[in-house]
Amino acid sequence: MSPAPKILVTGGAGYIGSHTVLALNEAGYRVVVYDNLSSGHPEAVLPPAKLLAGDLGDSAKLDSLLAEEQFSAIIHFAASIVVPESISHPLHYYHNNTIKTTGLIQAALKHQIRHFIFSSTAAVYGSPEHLPVSENAPLNPINPYGRSKLMSEWILRDATQAYPYFRHVILRYFNVAGADPRGRIGQSTPEATHLIKAACRTVLGRKEKLEIFGTDYPTPDGTGIRDYIHVTDLAKAHVLALEHLAADSDSDIFNCGYGHGYSVREIIAAVQKISGLPLQTHTSPRRTGDPAQLVADPEKLRRTFNWKPQFDDIEKIVKSAYQWEKQRPY
Ligand code: UFG
Repeated sequence: MSPAPKILVTGGAGYIGSHTVLALNEAGYRVVVYDNLSSGHPEAVLPPAKLLAGDLGDSAKLDSLLAEEQFSAIIHFAASIVVPESISHPLHYYHNNTIKTTGLIQAALKHQIRHFIFSSTAAVYGSPEHLPVSENAPLNPINPYGRSKLMSEWILRDATQAYPYFRHVILRYFNVAGADPRGRIGQSTPEATHLIKAACRTVLGRKEKLEIFGTDYPTPDGTGIRDYIHVTDLAKAHVLALEHLAADSDSDIFNCGYGHGYSVREIIAAVQKISGLPLQTHTSPRRTGDPAQLVADPEKLRRTFNWKPQFDDIEKIVKSAYQWEKQRPY
């Protein structure tokens, strides 16, 4: 029997990366994580996956890793992901995201690694005019983060055109939330600003108040609506993307969400219900660059990959996030 395929996961010590590594472990793949640990955590990389600490900018280290190991695919998560920071430090985002992705693609081509899965974002759509958002909606990112990811997508597509043996899947994530339902890993970045994490930290008394950014949006309760996808369902989509490429399918792009959204107030109600605790809120003005509503059309993902989400339920998402947060010391 031939050994299981070996996969390189960049950024595999981070939130979405570590859940994907867990899904790959469970599917029987051999996994090596390459992560500079700037925001990732070594303990999030569960065995038998291995961790090599390193930065994508260290091309000599990356080159020797790719020369030593025979990877059949790369899943590329490593990136800077904070939208407001991308506005204040755009060059860092273009360097860390776009330029380092280019270097990784070059290294993949040099070592004849044939399959590449890229973590992209709904931020490439900006403020979409039509909901739910399909993959062929206009691309109009409104911040450097979204532009750094869209440029990376274009570079990847051009590389695929030029080198026919090289194929990719681009996954555009909507709002990723929740934690491993068995509580082994979760969202570990203490300063993460994501709504569900911030709401859980507030009910646990680790944050004084939850800011509601904008109550005058054209939505039923005036607050922003997002499509929250459980990180374990998203991790599974990466495993299916690998199988898709291994079956010689064409390069493609998929939106990752459930196809329905929840408002900030609905999330607050769910966190109060699951925790049984009151949540202090404070109404603030809209955050710059926040669209009113962002909801994915996940039909292509479901149809092509036969993706069957298991956690498409806001209470399951909140419950796993809350349990993870509760067991943490801060
Ligand atoms: N929100 C609050 N209070 C908070 C945090 C968020 O009211 O303390 C609101 C936001 O205004 C928004 C919603 O909750 O309406 C979700 O906000 P998040 O910060 O959780 O997520 P975003 O939609 O801003 O962004 C996320 C990722 C981005 C990615 C984007 C793509 O953080 O990296 O989804 O949809 F680009």
